[in-house]
Amino acid sequence: MREKVTVPAIQARKGGPKIRMVTAYDAPSAGIADRAGADMILVGDTLAHVVLGYDDTLSATMDVMIHHMAAVARAKPGALIVGDMPWLSYHVSVEEAVRNAGRLIREGRAECVKLEGGHKRLAVIEAILAAEIPVMGHLGLTPQSIHAMGGYRVQGKGAEAAYELVADARALAAAGVFAIVLEGVPDVLAQIVTQEVPIPTIGIGAGPHCDGQVLVYHDVLGLYDGRLPRFVRQYVHLADIATEALQRFFADVQAGTFPADTESYHMNEESARTLRALMRKEE
Ligand code: KIV
Repeated sequence: MREKVTVPAIQARKGGPKIRMVTAYDAPSAGIADRAGADMILVGDTLAHVVLGYDDTLSATMDVMIHHMAAVARAKPGALIVGDMPWLSYHVSVEEAVRNAGRLIREGRAECVKLEGGHKRLAVIEAILAAEIPVMGHLGLTPQSIHAMGGYRVQGKGAEAAYELVADARALAAAGVFAIVLEGVPDVLAQIVTQEVPIPTIGIGAGPHCDGQVLVYHDVLGLYDGRLPRFVRQYVHLADIATEALQRFFADVQAGTFPADTESYHMNEESARTLRALMRKEE
């Protein structure tokens, strides 16, 4: 059994050994991520995309997030469970945001929440923190803003936009978030933010200078066949391995070689004889 990773333990990793984070959306994948040594498991709203087949993350609802978060929590990972707040769960009012963050903790058994945005979200972040729920920030390419951004585009490429992002990161850190995900930003900007804030930065498409890195489970393992962004490194193509295994199963079924004797249940001779005799009587 691993020692439980906590929010203060993640904070203490600033500038230290790189933090390892991956998404997971169910108990078996959380178990695999945990055994592989994840420090944090993010139950991300990417599940709408990679698990539920939607084109973006906007279709993830509170109920869906809680359903998957609770499954991850039942794997009892040593890794810290980060619950992603879905679109519209923290945009309507501060009160609703606190209640929704509380649902992710109480019903989903998440141990902290993540939400997207900078200055605009400060009131919400402060209220959630005041309810004793640790918050992880998320800046740069924030997928819940896909329509406002005009697509999934690298953010902070120009000096002014980059400067604003640094200001957002400083404001989030001052408000008390314990870490910030930096997604889809130039490596130099991520390096500057990492130097400027006293909390860990976790990069995804943000170059090598962050305090940690996160990728989507299905991308790393090749379980998702959609177009992959350039920042994904795919370590295996499990979809091919799984397809091949299922083809072998189906071939065995067609050939009648599955199941074998050792894969079948048996009745003792006496009961089998009696059953056959009963059947003959019926004829
Ligand atoms: O929802 C998610 O999986 C995320 C990561 C891509 C950082 O926010």
